[in-house]
Amino acid sequence: MLAPNRGSAERPNISPERLLSLAAEVVNASPRAIGDLLEVLRREPAILGLLDHRLFEASSRSHFHSTAESYAQRAADASYMGEGNRQLARAVRASMAELVRSAPGGRIRILDVGAGVGAPTTVTLLRELASHSEGPLDLEICAVDHCREVVERTQALFDTSADEPEIGQWLASARCHMVDGSAMGFEAGSFDLVVCGFVLHHCNLLDKRDIVGEMLRVTRPGGLVALVDEFQDSGLHSHRYSGMSSCDTAGLECFVDLGGMVSIFESLARSTVIQARDGHEADGAWIMVAARRHPHAPTETSQAQSESD
Ligand SMILES: C[S@@+](CC[C@H](N)C(=O)[O-])C[C@H]1O[C@@H](n2cnc3c(N)ncnc32)[C@H](O)[C@@H]1O
Repeated sequence: MLAPNRGSAERPNISPERLLSLAAEVVNASPRAIGDLLEVLRREPAILGLLDHRLFEASSRSHFHSTAESYAQRAADASYMGEGNRQLARAVRASMAELVRSAPGGRIRILDVGAGVGAPTTVTLLRELASHSEGPLDLEICAVDHCREVVERTQALFDTSADEPEIGQWLASARCHMVDGSAMGFEAGSFDLVVCGFVLHHCNLLDKRDIVGEMLRVTRPGGLVALVDEFQDSGLHSHRYSGMSSCDTAGLECFVDLGGMVSIFESLARSTVIQARDGHEADGAWIMVAARRHPHAPTETSQAQSESD
């Protein structure tokens, strides 16, 4: 009986780049397709390197585009996210006096990476600072997100926030820009404090490292980086592809535990981790890491050199 010879079947003449851009279109249209698509594409070693970043990004952007309207309310309702952001805010508050002392003119420039609609991480932080501060604080807020819909909504919220009790003074002058956290384009050392809330589980393992590296690069020597992320260890998220797991809601998620996140910081060798905590709430789990940028951090060139040695 004749049977198809799978080994020698002719392949369509299509480049890895074209294949990926088609795959990204499918994911944009249907984020949940990512799990099945990865199962197929992972058999193509030639495209694996490209596949990670582009599909994660496309999946994440399309997910947050379609959920932007309801995001701010849902973020406030999710107790593990609320608690994680509060933990981050407390860790920052504990270092605030030192940050102000060492900041030129006492002004603290804050960057929120992957701010989300309404920048819940920043808002939680500002509330914490407002309710515990002993004197006026001079804060300048910059938020970034890679999803246009999120950026436009967040800027509109900032622009109408002057009357927000206690924190309106800071939010009203805040700016939100469309920027990919793994290549931010800000000058090195531009910020005193860089925060990031519940973003990294939407990024593959290499992108997580790139984003943490970018956060450290744009933080001034002696400044602070603090991030909180979701950590799922419930077993619901089966690992399907080299450390990634597919998720019902985002289409694509990739979790690391606290030890993994600390080791990402350590591998970059530009900071000292000053706090690392995790917590389990009824509806999810979080990990939080705060790190101080080395006061006399090596330049970008010597850092790259020392990593290659
Ligand atoms: C789960 S939300 C978190 C928002 C907010 N920080 C919070 O704690 O609620 C994740 C946000 O990160 C953004 N994001 C994901 N990957 C990103 C990337 N590579 N660069 C910039 N933003 C990114 C998404 O568009 C989304 O708005």
